[in-house]
Amino acid sequence: MSATKNIIIALDEGTTNAKAVALNNAGEVLVKFSQPLSIQTPHEGWVEQSGTLLIDASVQVLAKAIKAVGAENVCALAISNQRETAIGWYRSNGTPLNAALSWQCSRTASFCEGLRRDNLEARIKSVTGLPVAPLFSASKLRWLLESVPGGFSLAEKGEICLGTIDSWLLWNLTAGKSFYCDYSNASRTQLLDLVTGDWNNEMLEIFQIPRAALPEIKPSSGLFGFTKGVDNIPDGIPIMSMIGDSHAALFGHALGKAGCVKATYGTGSSVMAPIHSAQCNIQALATTIAWHNGEKLVYGLEGNIPHTGDAVAWMADSTGLSELPETELNHELNTLPASVENTLGVYFVPALTGLGAPWWVDNARGLICGLNRGVKRAHLIRAALESITYQIADVIDAMRQHPDFTLTALMVDGGPTKNDWLMQYQADLLGCPVMRSDIPELSALGAALLARSAVSPLSTQEMLAMLPVHRTFCPDMARHQRLQQRWREWRIAIEKTLSQPM
Ligand code: G3P
Repeated sequence: MSATKNIIIALDEGTTNAKAVALNNAGEVLVKFSQPLSIQTPHEGWVEQSGTLLIDASVQVLAKAIKAVGAENVCALAISNQRETAIGWYRSNGTPLNAALSWQCSRTASFCEGLRRDNLEARIKSVTGLPVAPLFSASKLRWLLESVPGGFSLAEKGEICLGTIDSWLLWNLTAGKSFYCDYSNASRTQLLDLVTGDWNNEMLEIFQIPRAALPEIKPSSGLFGFTKGVDNIPDGIPIMSMIGDSHAALFGHALGKAGCVKATYGTGSSVMAPIHSAQCNIQALATTIAWHNGEKLVYGLEGNIPHTGDAVAWMADSTGLSELPETELNHELNTLPASVENTLGVYFVPALTGLGAPWWVDNARGLICGLNRGVKRAHLIRAALESITYQIADVIDAMRQHPDFTLTALMVDGGPTKNDWLMQYQADLLGCPVMRSDIPELSALGAALLARSAVSPLSTQEMLAMLPVHRTFCPDMARHQRLQQRWREWRIAIEKTLSQPM
């Protein structure tokens, strides 16, 4: 490799944006480009995206980043992607069978309900680590095959390809030469045996997915193929990593160091902790493959919360705050919660489309309780922000049941983490340091680090030197003790939510 050919372009293909980030060998972001993506909701509960537009947007941002740094300086591409979203395409010409079915899509809810009725959930969870839910790809891949004439038999003959978004991107970036997925994405399909790391025949049968239609699974770090025949992207650039975005963020924060638990604060939140084995008896949480680093599989324990940042957005809408211009709105969200001493006993349980981890009640309805005449907008906004911290604490509390689980710091990323008050409240509530990365592109960084270590082996010291700088919010332990009472009151609000008539 020449001295200057050291830039990695990481594509972070998310639900709402495709982003390309160029990183040098110090892990610094040189340039970034972003392209918004549209989401369609053709029926209630259906969420989908055009597979073709996902590719177009990804290619556009990649081409811009490559041009900005000079193709001659790019040593590899890295991919991190939205997980669980499922797509199928014809092997002969790459035409999608249908739209890409988003991870948010619940069109297969009744099929999943049937699996639960047939008492298959415990078996499926024990093999795949995942509870039965339309979130995961398997039921969606089945739906895709059902949606085209002769879908199942074409898939049997290998004439249809099924995959997650990493496979779809790779196929299109390599002119159909590479049909692989990585272990982290495979572990989100609900078809993978977490221990053997292979597609599981029993799961393939339950979900009616022919093995011939699925990609080969590879380590997250290593050669996946070379770019070929893509507009404005030179041929021959190696693609050296692929990994699900949440997993990539865990890697980007601290390389999966024990005790460093990651929480991404977005519309919803994913809390993930590295663990040693695939064994997990905690029904409330999913076990997953965090990544394969080229040497071994690393496992993760994950809790997904559907409404965290979204709870604040909902409250801002409902109290008229969201009518303010964006900068004023952000200012208000940062200052209002600290302008009052507490919520006056108000709790907001944002079960806006049911409750996720660790409660998992699909039809739960949201709740605001403890109102009195003195409650003002500031108290309600504060209750919404506090609800983020309690929900994350509830997931971490469930994680404590796992023998491998340790918590030395909560490593955080995502838009709402810019709120210093929120970070301090989270640290005080948990009684542990909360560490906020100085760069927001954690998924891109994680994928780039995996690619970099595949291009040329790096020592742990070299890897550590590329990690972002974190600002630490240290817990005030006296306040931590006082907040335990509030957390108990929050749990009472959760019980009220769960006992409400639906
Ligand atoms: O599990 C879904 C998650 O990977 C989606 O990520 O970044 O598109 O919200 P994002």
